Amino acid sequence: MASASSILVGGGTGFVGTTLCNALRSKGYGVTIISRMPGPHRVSWCDIQTKGLPKNTKAVVNLAGQNVMDFTRRWTAGFKQNVYSSRVNTTKSLASIIDEANEKPTAFVTISGVGCYKPDKQKEYTEESVCGEFDFFSKLCKDWEEAAHLSDLSNRYCRVVTIRSGVVLGREGGMIKQLHLPFYLGLGGPVGNGEQYMPWIHIEDLTNIIIHAIETPNVEGILNGVAPKPCTNMEFSKAFGNAMRRPALLPLPSFVLNMLLNKERAVMITEGQKVIPKRTISTGFNYKYGDIQSACRALVGGN
Ligand SMILES: NC(=O)c1ccc[n+]([C@@H]2O[C@H](COP(=O)([O-])OP(=O)(O)OC[C@H]3O[C@@H](n4cnc5c(N)ncnc54)[C@H](OP(=O)(O)O)[C@@H]3O)[C@@H](O)[C@H]2O)c1
Repeated sequence: MASASSILVGGGTGFVGTTLCNALRSKGYGVTIISRMPGPHRVSWCDIQTKGLPKNTKAVVNLAGQNVMDFTRRWTAGFKQNVYSSRVNTTKSLASIIDEANEKPTAFVTISGVGCYKPDKQKEYTEESVCGEFDFFSKLCKDWEEAAHLSDLSNRYCRVVTIRSGVVLGREGGMIKQLHLPFYLGLGGPVGNGEQYMPWIHIEDLTNIIIHAIETPNVEGILNGVAPKPCTNMEFSKAFGNAMRRPALLPLPSFVLNMLLNKERAVMITEGQKVIPKRTISTGFNYKYGDIQSACRALVGGN
């Protein structure tokens, strides 16, 4: 049974989930993780479907999703299906469990990606911008966000907040873990000409936005989970290289990534969008890492 004011976190064992669950525990919340692997304070997706929400669930968060950037996995139809269903089906299943619950949580916080905005070198996107269905990731984001919709009755009691996250920067996983060695060896550099935007957020800020969404009574709807100062891929490479005291001059040609990862998947790195967190800021959220230089210094252990 969950303790008073407990948060249920789907995918809480992952890169973002681990940092979020630690932050929630340090704020005094009980945390129950929904995972495919058994363990203490964990429940399975099947348990949740059959038994419903644990007692005293204050909020439900979903961070589950097959890792898109697992480069050991080929971009096959089967892998794409996993990428899709691990996000859309888990979110849908949590929405229906909330719909069925007698005691509603106060918030259902889900994640989506900035891949819903069409890559563009000039256009500025905010939460009000129109999203299209132009490729695999934009369609995924649309269905993922729709999967979080609650019935009218649930919606009266439970706020739904969807955070469209940029690339999450943290030491323990994601892009930084993959780039650390090449940059350390002086082999880092921009992707292609580096002019494409790279929407990014420091992991601490992303987990704080999730907590802000749980705790702030009037926060509802879409929030862009990106830093307030956008940067290009070139600016990120320079900032990370500087923080590591290494040159970051060796460009990685886009065609190499297209060949290695498949063009459809590589688009997340070879192209980008300028995304502004207008609503996130207007809800009163304060960032700890607003610019890429301070974030990179923190990531390599400086201040
Ligand atoms: N990291 C980023 O840069 C980034 C950027 C934008 C959006 N996001 C989104 O944010 C969420 C969290 O990201 P993350 O980097 O923390 O991901 P992660 O480290 O890959 O962890 C996600 C969790 O999802 C669960 N999972 C993996 N494959 C699954 C499957 N096939 N079916 C059901 N559950 C599965 C795993 O939990 P168990 O093994 O315990 O079941 C895993 O711990 C993801 O949905 C991701 O798409 C991340």
